[in-house]
Amino acid sequence: MTLRLRVVAALAFVALAGVTGAWLFQGDGTAGGGASQPGDARFRWTNSEQCRDCHRAVWDEWQGSHHQISYLNPEVRKLSDDFRNKECQACHLPQPIDVTGFGQRALPRLTRPDQGVDCITCHVGRSGEVFAAHDVPTAPCRPRTDPRFVSMSLCESCHNQHQTTDQWRASPSAKQDVDCNDCHMPDVERSLAGGVVRKGRGHGYPGAHDAAMLGKASEFDARIEGGELVAVLANTGAGHNFPTEERHRAVDVVWRAIDAQGQAGEWSRAFRFRQPYREEPGENTQLPAGERKELRVALPPGTVKVGVRLWYRLNPYAVDGDAASTLLAEREVIVP
Ligand code: HEC
Ligand code: HEC
Ligand code: HEC
Ligand code: HEC
Ligand code: HEC
Repeated sequence: MTLRLRVVAALAFVALAGVTGAWLFQGDGTAGGGASQPGDARFRWTNSEQCRDCHRAVWDEWQGSHHQISYLNPEVRKLSDDFRNKECQACHLPQPIDVTGFGQRALPRLTRPDQGVDCITCHVGRSGEVFAAHDVPTAPCRPRTDPRFVSMSLCESCHNQHQTTDQWRASPSAKQDVDCNDCHMPDVERSLAGGVVRKGRGHGYPGAHDAAMLGKASEFDARIEGGELVAVLANTGAGHNFPTEERHRAVDVVWRAIDAQGQAGEWSRAFRFRQPYREEPGENTQLPAGERKELRVALPPGTVKVGVRLWYRLNPYAVDGDAASTLLAEREVIVP
């Protein structure tokens, strides 16, 4: 089957399962006896579309984010064998975190495949309440503060599989009280009806698929010292390892020598920052938050100039210039 067909087949399966699955949070928000107004005793929050009309700007930011696409993402479908591997479902199509508890692994749901990690997942509590950073008792959704919701245990439920939350806890950011959301939910100003502007927190969650975010992670420099190329990468902007999470990710430092005739040699890799796959040999060479790595490369005789590049790779097989590679920095240094 083509990928598109497989996605359609998966949607059909999930739609069918949604009809038969009748436990908590598996409904579509319109079932359950027709009580459909917030405030009615029998009303339940079960579908992100219920939040959409009142929180349109937040909805639009979330649309297209990796949270929203997490179950339909072709990269995930490929590796999970279209979610026939049931282990993959819990974080990519979850029930609300509070069902199992903040910091605990979520349970999988079967409905709303197009809503992945959604409003309900993060905001709705096991008694049906809406969690928020502030109490707004007058709002129809009656949001209320909960310390667990604004603690990073919300993220930990899904984002500690490869220790990102642990890495953050040990980072300079955590010591300075800079949490996941300070970097991943930047302040935004939203224009509402009637020219009203309201401040909020961005729900697009930029990360490894966002060039601007990748650009903030590190500082890179290169110089020549004693006939050697010295390249330095410092993790100054990621609140965890760089790269972090998925074992696919890699950061490469590559270089090439240029001679007096202007002839450039082949690019070769000086170093790769990466956590290898489980079955692969080698150690985790990701760069922890706040740390720097100095690389030294002996230059061939006759080198007058050296080109150096820093690449981010979404997967370890990506090559320079393809869609899974992002050029983060480029330097040309003259050999004195
Ligand atoms: C009928 C309209 C309506 C619906 C439906 C609704 N809300 Fe609200 N919500 C509001 C209003 C009005 C406010 C107060 C003004 C504001 O912050 O936008 C609010 C405030 C909030 C807040 C902010 C509290 C703070 O920190 O200031 C959160 C969080 C929230 N809603 C989440 C949700 C979620 C999640 C859903 C769906 C499960 C939802 N709301 C459904 C109208 C609604
Ligand atoms: C404990 C929660 C959890 C489970 C279980 C889980 N994932 Fe994920 N997955 C995540 C998180 C969180 C991310 C986002 C972080 C990242 O991109 O590295 C992610 C990202 C991914 C990505 C990267 C998507 C992209 O566009 O780059 C792939 C591919 C993926 N997961 C596949 C799988 C597969 C296959 C399984 C089952 C074997 C699985 N996941 C099980 C939490 C989980
Ligand atoms: C229910 C599980 C779950 C929770 C809770 C959760 N995430 Fe995610 N998150 C995911 C999954 C799964 C993905 C990747 C989906 C994909 O790429 O297909 C993801 C993607 C992301 C990405 C984008 C990664 C990229 O490569 O583009 C960021 C950033 C992120 N999450 C941050 C957070 C933060 C911060 C929190 C806490 C406020 C949080 N997440 C809570 C499951 C979760
Ligand atoms: C990955 C978890 C996550 C998801 C998914 C998510 N939110 Fe939020 N949301 C948060 C967090 C955390 C905050 C509080 C940020 C802060 O101020 O500390 C928040 C804040 C809000 C606010 C308060 C106003 C603002 O902009 O800060 C509203 C309204 C809101 N969310 C609505 C929604 C709606 C509607 C959806 C679905 C379209 C949604 N959220 C999806 C985690 C999430
Ligand atoms: C000081 C800012 C900062 C803090 C704090 C921070 N991050 Fe990040 N995060 C970044 C930057 C920059 C990137 C892009 C570079 C990278 O992938 O490491 C990133 C990338 C990510 C990604 C994408 C990883 C991938 O491979 O797809 C995820 C997921 C993520 N962060 C989750 C979190 C979580 C969860 C926390 C808190 C436990 C957190 N971040 C804390 C700055 C931060």
